[in-house]
Amino acid sequence: MVQEFSNSVVFMPSGGLKGTIQAPADKSVSHRAAVIAAISDSTVKIKNFLRAADTQCTLRAIAACGVPVDNLDDVSPGDPVIHGAGLRGLRPPAGPIDIGNSGTSIRLLPGVFAGQEGSFTLDGDESIRLRPMDRIVEPLQKMGVSIKARDGLYAPLTVTGGSVHAVHFDMPVASAQVKSSLLLAALYADGPTEVVEPAVCRDHTEIMLAAAGARIEKEGLLTRIYPAKHLHMDDVDIIADISSAAFWLVAGSIVPGSEITLTGVGVNPTRTGLLDILLEMGADITLENECRRKGELVADLTVRYARLHGLAVGGGIVGRAIDELPLLALAGAFATGETLVTGAAELKVKESDRIAGLVENLDAIGVHIKGTDDGFVVRGIHGPLGGSFFSHGDHRMAMLGAVAGLASREGVEVVDFDSVSVSYPSFRDDLEKLRGES
Ligand code: S3P
Repeated sequence: MVQEFSNSVVFMPSGGLKGTIQAPADKSVSHRAAVIAAISDSTVKIKNFLRAADTQCTLRAIAACGVPVDNLDDVSPGDPVIHGAGLRGLRPPAGPIDIGNSGTSIRLLPGVFAGQEGSFTLDGDESIRLRPMDRIVEPLQKMGVSIKARDGLYAPLTVTGGSVHAVHFDMPVASAQVKSSLLLAALYADGPTEVVEPAVCRDHTEIMLAAAGARIEKEGLLTRIYPAKHLHMDDVDIIADISSAAFWLVAGSIVPGSEITLTGVGVNPTRTGLLDILLEMGADITLENECRRKGELVADLTVRYARLHGLAVGGGIVGRAIDELPLLALAGAFATGETLVTGAAELKVKESDRIAGLVENLDAIGVHIKGTDDGFVVRGIHGPLGGSFFSHGDHRMAMLGAVAGLASREGVEVVDFDSVSVSYPSFRDDLEKLRGES
C-alpha cells in the first residue's frame, strides 16, 4: 500500500513483488544519444529515449543551440528525432542553458561546445551548483579550451569555442562524465588524444562514437581518440537502465516471496558491479536472452528472494557500481554479518552527499550503519524498522527509501519523493504492477 502526504509518500511493508517489467531507458545512454546525434550529419530517431527530467534537459539544451528536434517535449507522443547539425553546427543561445539537476549534461556538453563558434553558458539547480566542475575545467583548459567556472570550481560554466589541442591526460578520479567530456572535445583536436582512467568506468560514449564512425582505440584503461571530420549516426533504440533496474534487484532479493523479471536491461560490464556484488552475497539472479544491441550488451534479468551474506567491497568494482552502492547498504541490512564499502568517496559529490544521507536515513529507520571517509559499514540481519527518510532532492535516495519501506516492518515515509522524476518518473507505476495493484 502507498499513502501520500503532499510531497511525501509512505511505502508500507509489502508481500512478495511479482511480475515482469521493463525498467526505464538508460539515462547515461539517452544523454549520449542526444549529444552525439546533435553533432552528427544524420537525422536520428531515438527510440525509447528516457523521458525524465535529466535527459529532457539535454534534449532542450541541444535544441536551444539551434539543433532541430522533433517531438522535443515529453508530452508529445513520438520519439525524439534529432536533425544533426554536424560537428561544428551548434549556435550559442541568447542566455544561459538550464540543465537542472543533470551532472551528465553539464559535464558532457562543454566537450562539444569546445569545437563550436561563440560562447555557451551552462547553469543548473542548487545541487548542481555545489558539485565539483574543476574535474572537467582543468583538463579542458589543458586542451586549450576557454572554459570558466565560478571560483574555478562550480557552475555556471562558460565555454568559448576555438582551437583544441590533443593531450595525454591521466584522470585523477574514475569518472565517465569527465572521460566523455574530454573524448567529445578531442573530436575537434589537432591530433590524437589519450585519456587514462584510474579504474574502469562506463564506456557508452566510446561505443556510440565508434558506431558513428569516430576512430577510437582502447588499451586497457587508456582510450585513444582521433579528431573527426564528420559523424554519421543511425537510429538508436535505448536499452533499459541497470541503475533503475537495480532498485528491483535489491527489492526482489530482500522482500520474501518476490520473483521479478526485468527485460532488455543493459549489462555492459562497465555497469554490472552491483549484479556481481549481489551474486557474491548469495542473491538469486539469473540472466537470459543475452545479446548485443548496437554494441551494448543486454539481457533479461530475473531476481528471486534469497538469503544474503555480508561482503567487503572495494577497489576496481566501485566505479562499476557507483550509483548503486547506496542500495548495497540496504541489502547489507538484511545480510548476515557485515557489509563494508571502501574507496567510494565519490558518493559524497553525487546529487547529494550520499554517504551522509545514507547514514542519517538508514540510522533513523533502524539500520546499524556507520559512515566512513570513503564508504560505510552496515551490520545486518533484521532490516529497517521504519520511520522517515529524507531524499534531500536526490532521485536515487528517494527510491532507496521506497525500497526500504517495502522491506521494513512498519513502513517508511519518503520526504521529497518527487525527485524520482529525474530518472524514473514511472517508479510507482512499476511498483503497482509488481504488487498486482494495476
Ligand atoms: C554518469 C557517470 C557517473 C554516474 C552518473 C552518470 C554518466 O558519474 O554517477 O550518474 O552518465 O557518465 P561520474 O562520471 O561522476 O562518476
